[in-house]
Amino acid sequence: MYQIYPRSFKDSDSDGIGDLKGIISKLDYIKSLGVDVIWLNPIYSSPNDDNGYDVSDYRNIMKDFGTMEDFDALLKGMHERGLKLVMDLVVNHSSDEHEWFKQSRSSRTNPYRNYYHWWDAERGKPAYRYSLFDVNHDAWKYDSLTNAYYLHYFSRKQPDLNWENPKLRQEIYGIMKFWADKGIDGFRLDAFQFAAKDTTFPAFPAGFEKNFVQYYAMGPHLHNYLQEMNSGVLSKYDVMSVAEGAGNTFEDAHDLVDADRHELNMAYAFEGVDIANDPKGYSLLHFKEVFSKWDSVFAEKGWLSIFLANHDQARMVTRFGNDNPEFRDVSSKMLTTFILTMRGTPYYYNGDELGMTNIRFDKIDDYRDMSTLNEYQYQKNTGGDLKQFMEKIKFSCRDNGRTPFQWDSSNAGFTNGTPWIKVNPNYKTLNEAAQKKDQNSCLNYFRKIIALRKKYDVLVYGKYTLLDKSNPDVYAYTRELDGKKLLVLLNFKSVPASVSIGIDLSKAKVLINNYSTASNGGALKPYEAIIFEL
Ligand code: GLC
Repeated sequence: MYQIYPRSFKDSDSDGIGDLKGIISKLDYIKSLGVDVIWLNPIYSSPNDDNGYDVSDYRNIMKDFGTMEDFDALLKGMHERGLKLVMDLVVNHSSDEHEWFKQSRSSRTNPYRNYYHWWDAERGKPAYRYSLFDVNHDAWKYDSLTNAYYLHYFSRKQPDLNWENPKLRQEIYGIMKFWADKGIDGFRLDAFQFAAKDTTFPAFPAGFEKNFVQYYAMGPHLHNYLQEMNSGVLSKYDVMSVAEGAGNTFEDAHDLVDADRHELNMAYAFEGVDIANDPKGYSLLHFKEVFSKWDSVFAEKGWLSIFLANHDQARMVTRFGNDNPEFRDVSSKMLTTFILTMRGTPYYYNGDELGMTNIRFDKIDDYRDMSTLNEYQYQKNTGGDLKQFMEKIKFSCRDNGRTPFQWDSSNAGFTNGTPWIKVNPNYKTLNEAAQKKDQNSCLNYFRKIIALRKKYDVLVYGKYTLLDKSNPDVYAYTRELDGKKLLVLLNFKSVPASVSIGIDLSKAKVLINNYSTASNGGALKPYEAIIFEL
């Protein structure tokens, strides 16, 4: 699964914003990678408070991105090339500029009132709910028009939809059918674990507010809604489905995706991608433990998504590898090896195939992400340490993953206009045109390892076994299926490291390696990755 952030991929009309025609112009490139499916971040009409995650019309295309004709051409172009399309469906909330919300807001008796969560002010202030994006961290916004509060877990311009209302649910299924009838191949349900709510809005225990997953996710009836969606829509089309987030426990994750429950197809859990949240580094032992645990819990039943990045994260190589030019390529290839050799469906974020890195803005004015700008304001209002905050976002802000795709050395080849967010200055050397010509580039490594995964079913379905568990530097595991056995060795450190696996490698064949010659298996070079066939 190759994820495209349309705003930053390719601009065809020089307005500085990527668009559908831009993607169409790069379909041959995408096909050449060997990926099977494209996941597009939202492309529906939107006032862009949250770059399309605030939808004002679910049956139309965002003006910045083009028209419905462009969409039809894109889908056709993809299908002609054997590529499938997964659309992002943002239905935990809509935009406050959606017609439903305009109606809902207008009076307490409007037929759309119950499409959203309202709390009449004469009942007093509703129990506190945390908002991830609000400048005051408050998810209830008072609206004087009807003397009531509305709920928004994300920004004020993203009011939460009321899934408890059967009419709203039918509207959403209608929207899904509209796109499925057009022939799309799947849905990624944005923030869906938060869709169901206890609408009595009881107070949560003190100290809960940041524990978003534990207290806000997997509300009452969520599974009923998914089963209803499955029987009404998903089961009627040849589409896959994945929801963002997998609840708070393994049981939650299984309940979302086990085939006999008829809900969704694969779990997308955050425990792994959340590990690298400190610029000082992370523990490989922890990393191994988390990925091994998820693998074992899903060994017999269910199916996982494997990823280390997406549009809500800073760059993979900066967070999990080493973006110092000396190690950037090799560590990026090592991480790519990891993603493509685990059991589950690999999700790969655009630009990671080049080893694109964090931009690390110095000035708050360079940032575009509304959640970061609001948090900056919150810190300012509450006397927070702004210097520390600026340092933190250089490492973690999602804008780092949203700078324009680096196509070539002429202003990155993304746009002829002024890009909506600055281009990473390293585009002059780090770009697709340069990597295309270099057999040893990250880009060509990505192509090779995808081809390998397609050739070896064992990499997709094979049993995973962790080796040398307590090794703090090297991640070693085997994959086994029907008598085939592969060994994966990954040095996660910038210094040579040894590994003890107790396997005789004298007859083993190296299938791929991220250096020009592979080590013999006992000692690994910095960030070395090797796959052996045993
Ligand atoms: C999801 C999206 C993120 C968005 C948020 C609100 O987490 O991935 O980009 O800001 O939902 O829609």
